[in-house]
This record gives sequence, C-alpha cells and structure tokens, in this order.
Amino acid sequence: TPVLVLNGPNLGRLGRRQPEIYGTTTFAELAELCRGWADALDLRADVRQTNHEGELLDWLNAAADDATPVVLNAAAWTHYSYALYDACAQLVAPLVEVHLSEPLQRPEEFRHHSVVTPHAVEVVAGHGPEGYRLALEVVRRELG
Ligand code: DQA
Repeated sequence: TPVLVLNGPNLGRLGRRQPEIYGTTTFAELAELCRGWADALDLRADVRQTNHEGELLDWLNAAADDATPVVLNAAAWTHYSYALYDACAQLVAPLVEVHLSEPLQRPEEFRHHSVVTPHAVEVVAGHGPEGYRLALEVVRRELG
C-alpha cells in the first residue's frame, strides 16, 4: 500500500538546520528511515520535500484523486496556509500530521495553531524522526 510522506519548507536542510531544535538526522537519512519503517508495516513510502507551496498542493490534490494516505509535516505552512487547509480538507484516505519538535511548546505564538490538525486523524509531535515511525503506524492502524 502506497503512503505519501510529504515535507514542507526548510526540511531539506534537516541535520544542519537548527540542530538544537530539529536534531542531526539529515533529510536523506530521515527518508531512508521512513522507507524502512514503512516496509516493515507493509506500506510503501514515497518521501518528498519541497520549498514551493504549490508543489505541495499538487501532491495533496493527487493524493485526493488517488485516495492515497498521507503523513504530512507541512513545516511553517502548517501555521497559516488556508490553501493547505483546503487541500487537506479534500483528502479521503487517512492524514497524519507530524512535527519533529512540539510546536505547542515553543515560544513563538504563531506555532500554536495548525490548519492541518482539523483534518488529521492524529498529530504526532515532539518525537523527532521517530515521530514519522509513529505516524506510519497510525496510517497502518487506520487502514486496518
Ligand atoms: C516543524 C515545526 C514548525 O513550526 C516549523 O515551522 C518547521 C518544522 C517541526 O517539524 O517541528 O519548519 O514542522
């Protein structure tokens, strides 16, 4: 069963980007981990990252057409993109929201709101890369 693992802006620099917050695992390593975790759950993960909001919207639209489950770390777009809210609203397969850090515990007020959460079956936050494994387990559970 295919699952899309979609990542938003600045996550391509994972490992080098504010490692005190996001850790030292690189995006390439995270992608490899996700593929392995998915395999073990009998899922096939297609792991992607973009800095271009329209590209993420195109991927979500395709996921809606194909009824593909999605694990989504929309990074900063999480907090303010109504286009992202609308794209998530139309999904038909399970959507799981994931964040490496715990946005609700961070000092910036803008991180305390998510446009993704209303459409997600679950939010996994604050577990670092491991959170993606937990999110894939949620997808597995939801698909039965
Ligand atoms: C993030 C949290 C967001 O607030 C932030 O803008 C990110 C990463 C996380 O994975 O912890 O870019 O989604």
